[in-house]
Amino acid sequence: MNEISLCMMTRDLCHILYQDWENDPAIYMDMNLFAPYRYSEEAVNRYFDAKQIPSRVLFAVMKDGKPIGEVQLKRIDYESKECVLSIHLQNDSVKGHGYGTCAERLALQYAFDVLGMVAVNADTVIKNTRSQHVLEKVGFQYRKEENGFKYYRIVR
Ligand SMILES: CC(C)(COP(=O)(O)OP(=O)(O)OC[C@H]1O[C@@H](n2cnc3c(N)ncnc32)[C@H](O)[C@@H]1OP(=O)(O)O)[C@@H](O)C(=O)NCCC(=O)NCCS
Repeated sequence: MNEISLCMMTRDLCHILYQDWENDPAIYMDMNLFAPYRYSEEAVNRYFDAKQIPSRVLFAVMKDGKPIGEVQLKRIDYESKECVLSIHLQNDSVKGHGYGTCAERLALQYAFDVLGMVAVNADTVIKNTRSQHVLEKVGFQYRKEENGFKYYRIVR
């Protein structure tokens, strides 16, 4: 499936992405912390700036020339050659079409082939069974459950 690609997130793409963003309740362990997302130009600028660090790569998930989500490789450690993958698609209209699966596969390819990682880790809150299913589908192995999270790892 070639309709999804990853590109490095730019400030402009980040604004386009977040203008139609919805927070997903599935990622909240404590639903008291959940609130519908409200776009703020200033907050997106702060968010984008905070991600520009050497231990992190922030990708836009692209479909038909538009950003429909973001994938991050974070806590990149070039000594141990490990990092952590996280993903969030823009809103419900783009979930459940295979795009998340495809984006995770592309991010893993980048982590292994471009960054030279030997292992990629991921975690999800326990109730997020959709994310767990997708992680396992792309090859992550379940490792453990701790403090409300399930931990996964894929080794090249
Ligand atoms: C998790 C996420 C990235 C998955 O991307 P997606 O494009 O929606 O998922 P896909 O369409 O590629 O695949 C969904 C799979 O999960 C399955 N699924 C759907 N709902 C499910 C559920 N509640 N429990 C288990 N599996 C579920 C689907 O059947 C499908 O599996 P299949 O291909 O074997 O039939 C996306 O839904 C998302 O951004 N969610 C909100 C943020 C989030 O949870 N991020 C992960 C935090 S760790």
